[in-house]
Amino acid sequence: MTTEIESVLVENRVFPPFANLVKDANISGMEGYRALCDEAERSPLEFWGRLARENLVWDKPFATVLDESQAPFYKWFADGEMNVSANCLDRHLNTPTANKTAIIFEADDGQVEHVSYKQLHARVCEFANGIKALGYKAGQRAVIYMPMSVEAVVAMQACARLGIIHSVVFGGFSSKSLHERIVDVGAVLVITADEQVRGGKKIPLKPAVDEALTMGSCEAVSHVIVYRRTGGKVAWQEGRDLWMHDVTAKQPSTCAPVSLSGEHPLFILYTSGSTGKPKGVQHATAGFLLWSLLTMKWTFDAKDSDVYWCTADVGWVTGHTYVAYGPLAAGVTQVVFEGTPTYPDVGRFWDMIERHKVSVFYTAPTAIRSLTKAAEAAPQFHPREYDLSSLRILGSVGEPINPEAWMWYYTHVGREHCPVLDTWWQTETGAHMISPLPGVTPLKPGSCTLPLPGIAAAVVDEAGDDVERGTGGFLVMKRPWPAMVRTIWGDPERFKKSYFPPELKGYYLAGDGAQRDTDGYFWIMGRIDDVLNVSGHRLGTMEVESALVSHELVAEAAVVGRPDATTGEAIVAFVVLKRSLPEGAEAKAIAKQLRDWVSKEIGPIAKPKDIRFGENLPKTRSGKIMRRLLRVVAKGEKVTQDVSTLENPQILDQLSQSV
Ligand code: WT7
Repeated sequence: MTTEIESVLVENRVFPPFANLVKDANISGMEGYRALCDEAERSPLEFWGRLARENLVWDKPFATVLDESQAPFYKWFADGEMNVSANCLDRHLNTPTANKTAIIFEADDGQVEHVSYKQLHARVCEFANGIKALGYKAGQRAVIYMPMSVEAVVAMQACARLGIIHSVVFGGFSSKSLHERIVDVGAVLVITADEQVRGGKKIPLKPAVDEALTMGSCEAVSHVIVYRRTGGKVAWQEGRDLWMHDVTAKQPSTCAPVSLSGEHPLFILYTSGSTGKPKGVQHATAGFLLWSLLTMKWTFDAKDSDVYWCTADVGWVTGHTYVAYGPLAAGVTQVVFEGTPTYPDVGRFWDMIERHKVSVFYTAPTAIRSLTKAAEAAPQFHPREYDLSSLRILGSVGEPINPEAWMWYYTHVGREHCPVLDTWWQTETGAHMISPLPGVTPLKPGSCTLPLPGIAAAVVDEAGDDVERGTGGFLVMKRPWPAMVRTIWGDPERFKKSYFPPELKGYYLAGDGAQRDTDGYFWIMGRIDDVLNVSGHRLGTMEVESALVSHELVAEAAVVGRPDATTGEAIVAFVVLKRSLPEGAEAKAIAKQLRDWVSKEIGPIAKPKDIRFGENLPKTRSGKIMRRLLRVVAKGEKVTQDVSTLENPQILDQLSQSV
C-alpha cells in the first residue's frame, strides 16, 4: 500500500436536483435519503432484513440476516431459500409486465429484436431444461464466452435457474486468459458462439475455446455449447460440441427454478489484482440480487415506463449487475447492444437513444471522451443533431469522470435536464456504493458524492482512523453489505489479505485512494495498488509484466500507467531485452512484436501504448524497481525526486525515449 496520492482537483460548480425528479423519485429529497441512512445506522440488520423481505421473492424465508461468526467471510440470508432467475422472470409472469418488452436487442448491423418477459422466461427455461438434460446441476461451474446477445443473458439466467455457478469471460480475452479461467474455476461446461460481430467485422470466438481446451487441465469440460450467431465455419468435436439450438430444441418452455440458499454462489468473475493471477471474485445469490435491484430503484430511479440502456458488456461486472440481473428484477425494458459506439458512424449511441426512446442511459467516461472528440471532428454526428428528449437520467461508471467530460455529457447529451450520476463501485462490491441519487443529491462534476443508504463508506489512514475532511486516505467500508464479494475462488487467504488487512480494524479495503470535501462528498483519486484502469477496464501491472517477460526476447519488464485523455490511463512498458539495445526501425519492429504478444497472451485491452527500451530498470541498491520514478518518466516529466538511493541513475535518460 502506498499513500502517494495525486492531488484532487477543485471543483466549485454545484447542480441541485431537478424539481420534477425530486417529486416523483423512488427516494425523494434529502429527507428521504437521510431517513433511510438513519434507519440503516440505527440497526443495519433490521434495515437489510426489511429490504430483503420487501424486495425479493423467497421460497423459504430467512431467519438470520447476517452471520458474522466467520468474519470476514460474512454470510447473508443463508438460511433463506430463493432463486435469482425466478426473481428476475417468474415474478413478472402474472403481472402486466409479462407482455412487456424485457430486451430490445440491437445487432451490430442495426437489426432489432424485441423479447418480452414471457418470451425471455420461456427461452431461459428451454435452455435450462437442455443443460439439465445433459446432466448439469447446482454447484457446478460453467464458463460463458459469448458476445452481447439475448443468448448470453439466457445462458446466465439459465445457469442461475439451476444453481450452476457461471463465470463469464469477456469475449475480448485471449484463449490463454480463457484457459486460465476455465482451469481456475474448474468448469465442466463452456457456452460460446461461433463468432461475434462488432464494428462490421466478424471475430471468431469458438476457435479460442477450442484452443483453450487443448492447453491442458481442462478434462472436466464435457460439453461446449455453441450459439450460432453468424453461421461462420467452425471446427467441431463430435460428442463434445453442441449447438445451442439443438440443446433447446423440443425442451418444454417451463422449468422449475431450483430453491437455493441465500448464500449459494451465483457467479465468479475474474478481475485484476496487484499480483500476477486474476482473482475469481465470488458473489452470492440473495445479497447480490437484493442490491442489484435496490440500486436499480434508488440510483436509476427505475420506473415501469423506463427504457433503460447500460452499454457495458456482460463480460464485466457492470454487465452482470446492470444488464443480466438488475434490470430484469426491476421489470424495466432494456436495450442490449451487440456493436460499438462508432459503427456505422460515431452517432450510433445518440441514434439508438432516439430510436428506442431511451430514458436512462449508463455508460463509461472513456466512451464519453472519445465521442466528444469524434463529435468535434464530425459535427453531423454531434448529439445535438439527435432527438434525445426521452432521456431523464445519465450514469457514468468505471473510472473517475473528469469535469470536462461530465459537463459535455450533462450539456450535450442530457441537455441540462438530466442528472449525471457518477457511480463508484467495483467488481467486489456487486453494485453501486457511492453515487448521487436523482431526486436527492446536488451534483458536483467529478465527485461520486455520497454513499447509498446502508453503505458505511469512509476515508481512513494506515491505522484505520478517520482522516480529516480534505485529507486523502484509503477508501474503506466499515460495515459489511449484502452484495459484497464472499471470497476469492479457491484462495480464501488472498481474500483476507487483499480486502481485510489486520491494521484496518476489519474494514473492507477498496483499493482506491479518496478524499472527502467539507460537504462530505467523496472524490476518488485512483488506485493505491498496482492496478491500472484503461478505458474503465482493470488490469494488473504484474499481469502485463508477466506476459512481457514470457516473450523470448525479454529479460525484464516494468509496467506503469500514464494519464491519457481518452482512455483514462494508458499502459507504458519499460523493457530490458536479452540482446543489445535496439534502435530506430528495429526498435519499432520489436515493440510491435511485443504489443502483439501481450494481445495474444491477455487480450487487446492489455496492449501497452508505449514501449521504452533500456539496458536496465531504475532500481534501489536492494534491487527494488522504483515504479514511482517510472511513472514520472512515463509522463514525460523531469525527475525532480531524490535519486540518490538509485543504483543506476543514468538509466532514466534511456528510458525517457519513446520508440
Ligand atoms: C475500480 C473497479 C464498477 C464497475 C466497473 C469497474 C474504478 C469505478 C469509478 C468511479 C472513480 C471508479 C475504481 C475501482 N472506478 N467506478 N465512478 N469513479 N473510479 O469495476 O473493474 O472492478 O474496477 O474502478 O478504481 O476500484 P472494476
